[in-house]
Amino acid sequence: MYQTLLTDLQDGTLVVTINRPDKLNALNKDVIEELGKVVDEIYNNADIKSAILTGSGEKAFVAGADISEFTTLDAAGGSALAKKGQDNVFDKIENSPKPIVAAVNGFALGGGCELAMSCHFRTASENAKFGQPEVNLGLIPGYGGTQRLTQLVGKGKAMELMMTADMIGADEAKTLGLVNHVWPLAELLSKTKEILQKIHTKAPIAISKVISCVNDAAKADSNGFANEVKRFGECFSTEDMREGTTAFLEKRKAIFKGK
Ligand code: COA
Repeated sequence: MYQTLLTDLQDGTLVVTINRPDKLNALNKDVIEELGKVVDEIYNNADIKSAILTGSGEKAFVAGADISEFTTLDAAGGSALAKKGQDNVFDKIENSPKPIVAAVNGFALGGGCELAMSCHFRTASENAKFGQPEVNLGLIPGYGGTQRLTQLVGKGKAMELMMTADMIGADEAKTLGLVNHVWPLAELLSKTKEILQKIHTKAPIAISKVISCVNDAAKADSNGFANEVKRFGECFSTEDMREGTTAFLEKRKAIFKGK
């Protein structure tokens, strides 16, 4: 079904593997196109409760946008490339009502780091390396990196990382808050799936409202506190909220239906 992605749905989690290992899974036009499609699938397929993005092979998550596609672009073409990617992939991942987690299994550079940062949170293998090396190419990040890296690690560190083009390892990424967990590569997917299995036992509508409220915190034009009040109220009209509170009072485990 996909040419550049492998997908595997098990226990409600769709594992999406970007599969161009000979090019360190660099994001060319085909990958961007197919990532947009797979995110639509995540939104629309009721059998999918969550997703993991990872890279093929043991070396790279994604080593960036495909630099070979940059050579013919002018200013308008560069802007169009960034806008299309942000609209169809990166922002759509961030706004997904279902959890999408990046399992970073190696280099996450440039667009790869940006792809990981557009996910709701990140886990990493011990060999993972993160960086925004665009200034080495006379470029800046274009898939949201200047904004999301700043939100995740703070202004000073984001400035330093983007100006020096330095790569950091998994442990430093964890210290900075860029990744939540660091595990041996062999355990990365299974441990990430375990977190998602736990999330699957919670009320899905409430999970989607957590995602949108937390995303509001990073939007300058949004009143996150007011939106939280509204979405908190909306939870009271869900069957799952009745089930969750009743189950607590009856001292039993809640069974949520996503209604
Ligand atoms: N775009 C296009 N091709 C890329 C790529 C990218 N972002 N990153 C790696 N590749 C390709 C290489 O050109 C090479 O292809 P080839 O075998 O046909 O020559 C292949 O992937 C393997 O990469 P290579 O550089 O040989 O591996 P390495 O282990 O020596 O170095 C990196 C790994 C990640 C340090 C290095 O590939 C690199 O710096 N990549 C670019 C990172 C970058 O600037 N990303 C931001 C882009 S905006």
